[in-house]
Amino acid sequence: MQQRSEETLERLLPAADIAPQRLHQAMRYVALGGGKRIRPLLCHAAGALCQADPAALDRSAAALELIHVYSLVHDDLPCMDDDVLRRGKPTCHVEFDEATALLVGDALQSLAFQVLAEQPPNADTPAAARQLEMLHLLAQAAGSRGMAGGQAIDLAAVDQQLSLAELEFMHIHKTGALIRAAVLLGAACGQPLASADQQRLDHYAKRVGLLFQIVDDILDSEADTATLGKTAGKDAANNKPTYVSLLGLSQAREKAAELRAEAHTTLSHFGDRARRLNELTDYICNRHF
Ligand code: IPE
Ligand code: IPE
Ligand code: MG
Ligand code: MG
Ligand code: MG
Repeated sequence: MQQRSEETLERLLPAADIAPQRLHQAMRYVALGGGKRIRPLLCHAAGALCQADPAALDRSAAALELIHVYSLVHDDLPCMDDDVLRRGKPTCHVEFDEATALLVGDALQSLAFQVLAEQPPNADTPAAARQLEMLHLLAQAAGSRGMAGGQAIDLAAVDQQLSLAELEFMHIHKTGALIRAAVLLGAACGQPLASADQQRLDHYAKRVGLLFQIVDDILDSEADTATLGKTAGKDAANNKPTYVSLLGLSQAREKAAELRAEAHTTLSHFGDRARRLNELTDYICNRHF
């Protein structure tokens, strides 16, 4: 499935020899050949729960990854986390330059919506009204009430002592919103769920989004740079409040285990239809990078 995401992105990104070449080279540099592709995987797994045709999920999965990669490029800029390594390679502004990195983010974000809007409404793909809903969902998740807002909170939190509730609010926005959108977009490509089931899936999506960022915080504090493919220990170096700085490693791990269990309990109602989501939940919790 990761290979499938790679091929879809390869196809959707402008070729490196099309003008402006340097921008297109940089977009391909950051988007191709790396990353765990967790958002596309979640999108496909939620689609499987709703009997979606995998072909109908490819564009949503790609749009999610494009927004995610844009957020990484901007997150690494000197004005944000100031990171030099991402996915085992020099970050975009190091390999290219800051202005290019800014534009790469802009262009990837636009491409995400273009990709989702172009989805031809036919038997295999969602109808136009559904497609509009999906665009709305992704826009909300990426915007100031979602990921971008979470990043603003993150930057404002440097050198601050946050309460657990404030930290959770930050994490739910900066990372949780797009993870949640991945699950909901996948589901939107399949058979409509009854409202109670939709709420169950949404609850799962929110829990797994928070779980994801707590594990990211844990890995930042305990894994090494070579394994992570990004500089370890950056949260402490930048004096960012995290689950680890607030609760300590062992309580952060406990919180992650609780969220994983809650995610599984929430999915149990769906039985075998949720198998891939269950597997991904474990992967998100137990990953080493
Ligand atoms: C890292 O995300 C950034 C966060 C939102 C915490 P991932 O851990 O999914 O990064 P890649 O896509 O695998 O590189
Ligand atoms: C990044 O969170 C969240 C987004 C990019 C939206 P982090 O700053 O913790 O991500 P990493 O650790 O640099 O990947
Ligand atoms: Mg950051
Ligand atoms: Mg960062
Ligand atoms: Mg991090």
